[in-house]
Amino acid sequence: MKIHEIFPILISQDKIDNHDEIKNEYLGELKSLWWNGYENPTPENSGRAFVHSNPRYFDIFKSISKSIRRHLDLLEVDHEKLLINITKSWVGYADRDTPQLKTHMHNDADLSFCYYITSDETSDKFCFYNPTSWNEPSTGIFEPNEKYRLLKKFNKYNCDSYTVSPKEGTILIFPSKMQHSTLKRKNIEDRYSLIGDVKLCLKPEYHRYAQSCPHPNLWLEF
Ligand SMILES: [Fe+2]
Repeated sequence: MKIHEIFPILISQDKIDNHDEIKNEYLGELKSLWWNGYENPTPENSGRAFVHSNPRYFDIFKSISKSIRRHLDLLEVDHEKLLINITKSWVGYADRDTPQLKTHMHNDADLSFCYYITSDETSDKFCFYNPTSWNEPSTGIFEPNEKYRLLKKFNKYNCDSYTVSPKEGTILIFPSKMQHSTLKRKNIEDRYSLIGDVKLCLKPEYHRYAQSCPHPNLWLEF
């Protein structure tokens, strides 16, 4: 039987350039910028969703932007004509008691990222969900029910969630509209991450292109 695997979703996990230097130089102060999920429902609510606005962290975001360009290479996008705009960024933290993140997506962004500054093999996993479930041949057939289930075992065609191990020094890049959560594990060591959103736009000189978004210089703001 020939199988046509069509429209695979691209999630990339890249090594961050200069991770060791970044960790040594900035981890201590980044810890103090945690958005504190116990007190705030969202990073935005904490007022700490713009780490990138501090020029001190320019080199970190420069490394992140390089990984994002490598992600765009995989998509065969001519990104030399585009600008990578970091629109939001915040520090994530989890210890063994932190509850797992609920399923959510990132509003009004093109790509999102999660850079693992510290993690170990016991860290909470990153979990993606497939809300469309095109392969489900009849409603509910893929549901994992303990007692009454029709699914014999999971494989890549019937599994509607996918977990990624948070390897220190790597960055996950994914479409912002993808539903995701964390999957709780022992999380023995504290896990710190830098998370954020990206919007792409055309460089001003490429204003004749109809794709993506025009440069903000060409906008009229009221
Ligand atoms: Fe998220």
